[in-house]
Amino acid sequence: YLNLIIAALGGYLLGSVPFGLVICRLAGLGDIREIGSGNIGATNVLRTGRKDLALATLLLDAGKGGIAVLVARYFLGENAALIAGVTAFAGHCWPIWLKFKGGKGVATFIGTLLALNWIVGLLVCLTWAIVAFARRYSSLAALSAAAAAPVFAWIWSGPSLSAACAFISIFLYYRHKENILRLMNGTETKIGGEKSQSA
Ligand code: G3P
Repeated sequence: YLNLIIAALGGYLLGSVPFGLVICRLAGLGDIREIGSGNIGATNVLRTGRKDLALATLLLDAGKGGIAVLVARYFLGENAALIAGVTAFAGHCWPIWLKFKGGKGVATFIGTLLALNWIVGLLVCLTWAIVAFARRYSSLAALSAAAAAPVFAWIWSGPSLSAACAFISIFLYYRHKENILRLMNGTETKIGGEKSQSA
């Protein structure tokens, strides 16, 4: 089991790096946790008006999940890769560097999925993109993609990836509890800025 423990720790530490926070600080925008939703993810970085920084956050947060999986797979095998993916997501949501107050895990989840099974990853990305395009809510897109992930994983991979996706999705929903309330009462912010009309 030593392999799995090393993969879990490595994934967690890598996932813990809060790129959104670091990037905004380096760009002189201050603490992203005091802007918009207070989240450290790409959606909230976009609320600063800096599309380039939001894109960098998205790619780096997804990349750290993907790298955790690929490195674990290369050195420690497929089971370790799955564990590293799950703990990278956990690291992003509950990072040791930020007293366990992190993000919502969407980009990191997608990055790990792309590395674990690119077809499943791509389908989850596509689900996100379709809902985001149709409804303009990043959170709703993420919640839809997370709900679809275990189904895609079941069909295109198997029970172990599907179970891992279901496990991650539960925590992803939990991390979005404020977004879910805002979606229900019509106060969630749309991509591009404007608030939704009341429900
Ligand atoms: O990636 C997180 C997204 O689903 C919601 O982010 O900042 O709108 O809470 P935010």
